[in-house]
Amino acid sequence: MTKEDSHLERIKFNPYKDKIISAAEAALLIPDQAVVGASGFTKAGDSKSVLPAFAERAAKENVAITLITGASLGQTTDADLANNNALIKRMPFQADSILRKSINEGKVKYVDQHLSETIEQLQEGHIPQVDIAIIEATYIDQNGYIIPTTSIGNSAYFATVAPKIIIEVNNAIPISICGIHDNCVPLEQPRRAAIPIHNVKDKIGESFIRLNPENVIAVVLSNIEDTPAQLSEPDEKTIAISKHLLHFFEQEVKKGKLTYSLLPLQAGIGKVANAVLTGFLHGPFENLTMYSEVLQDSTFELIDSGKMTFASGSSITVTQECYSRLLQNIDQYKDKLILRPQNISNAPEVIRRLGIIAINTAIEFDIYGNVNSTHIGGNKMMNGIGGSGDFARNAYLSIFVTQAASKNNNAISHVLPMVSHVDHTEHDVDILVTDQGLADLRGLSPRERAEVIINNCVHPDYKEELKDYFERAKKQGGHTPHLLEEAFKFHIRFKETGTMKTK
Ligand code: COA
Repeated sequence: MTKEDSHLERIKFNPYKDKIISAAEAALLIPDQAVVGASGFTKAGDSKSVLPAFAERAAKENVAITLITGASLGQTTDADLANNNALIKRMPFQADSILRKSINEGKVKYVDQHLSETIEQLQEGHIPQVDIAIIEATYIDQNGYIIPTTSIGNSAYFATVAPKIIIEVNNAIPISICGIHDNCVPLEQPRRAAIPIHNVKDKIGESFIRLNPENVIAVVLSNIEDTPAQLSEPDEKTIAISKHLLHFFEQEVKKGKLTYSLLPLQAGIGKVANAVLTGFLHGPFENLTMYSEVLQDSTFELIDSGKMTFASGSSITVTQECYSRLLQNIDQYKDKLILRPQNISNAPEVIRRLGIIAINTAIEFDIYGNVNSTHIGGNKMMNGIGGSGDFARNAYLSIFVTQAASKNNNAISHVLPMVSHVDHTEHDVDILVTDQGLADLRGLSPRERAEVIINNCVHPDYKEELKDYFERAKKQGGHTPHLLEEAFKFHIRFKETGTMKTK
């Protein structure tokens, strides 16, 4: 069977076969200034042919789009689009160093959004409606409906509302993945009903994405795997963070607040969150479940070890080794996995109902428990808030992890008098963990929180200075004592001298 034949096997709706064109031809169908809604969530299930072809087109022609996806894209797509000035606006999440530079230079307008909210903003007309959708598919059924690939993100909504749709049929993804998706599109408010998920395993939608086949303007054939995640091995610090957290969970079990199955887990992106989850491999915890957005290597390690029984997410973003193993053995995982649209995986209603334990990574936090997840030095965007806000505000336990200090000779303290940007306020944060220790903030007033955070989480090189700041601030009074003239002194020192240390 030729490559083309094997693609045609995947297109069960014959009228689409006449619409097969190349990626470069499809890129020409995207009008200048269009709002494009594309599949893709943390590098998984993204447009791997048409968006890159549009970036190439933009290298030769003055064309640019507003690009809305699920989350970040794979390959060098975001970078190529940014380099060729092909992006007017980008939302709701990115994690690319070149696009980040364009955003921070003010060349690309970036709307950093809670991932559960994009569809609502579109539905209510707060952001312009999608002109054209580009959706990666594993398979097209006899009705012309799409079975997605390794993510859902916002694809179900884009395909339902876009007047023009381009489908990328990717035969690098095994057809046996069909069945793990649970697609649905919410009604507009106030007609919306409750989301009937009472257990991480509950399915509420359909395995395919419905659309009007007449809106499909092109079908492109591709054979490209997802870009693998890059993960660093757990190190001394991430292992220490994991140990503090596992010890805390054991204490909660001993107090009778949790069982060894805990509650459904959510873990954010990044090496720290992944290392923390890997720590569960060695603990006494059993029958774990996950209700998260990105399913990373650690999810599959826990499933393989028998420690985790079920995982629900919006994408599968794993390293090359895990990806190959997973795709070859997808049948073994099918009864343990669901992929959902991100407005469902991140739905505040479901997160609150299920009682999620949310573990996300902070860039920095302050002595009162406010967390910055997005900005470096108070003004430069790193990645974006992603789903961390959806989970943090609504979780049963909202946990943030980070190293106490990092870079050469611990030049950066990640615990500060005041954060330079706030993503998660003190009201949303229950537990903070660094390699130094854990601060349980539940039920504590700001002054009590500061004591616990300084005592338990700060690196020894910064402890005395933070204690001194807090003691002097207390003398000036206030519910949340601060010395405003000194609150950013760590950041300012870092900017001026390259270290937050005094000597
Ligand atoms: N000052 C300067 N740089 C800092 C910094 C600080 N206070 N804190 C972190 N950084 C830099 C690190 O040095 C590193 O840069 P490098 O790649 O040049 O070394 C980079 O930020 C990432 O930090 P790292 O320690 O490698 O953490 P990570 O890989 O665990 O990622 C976040 C941490 C916060 C950036 C990441 O988790 C994120 O983007 N979170 C927001 C989205 C989110 O939480 N989604 C959750 C639902 S999926």
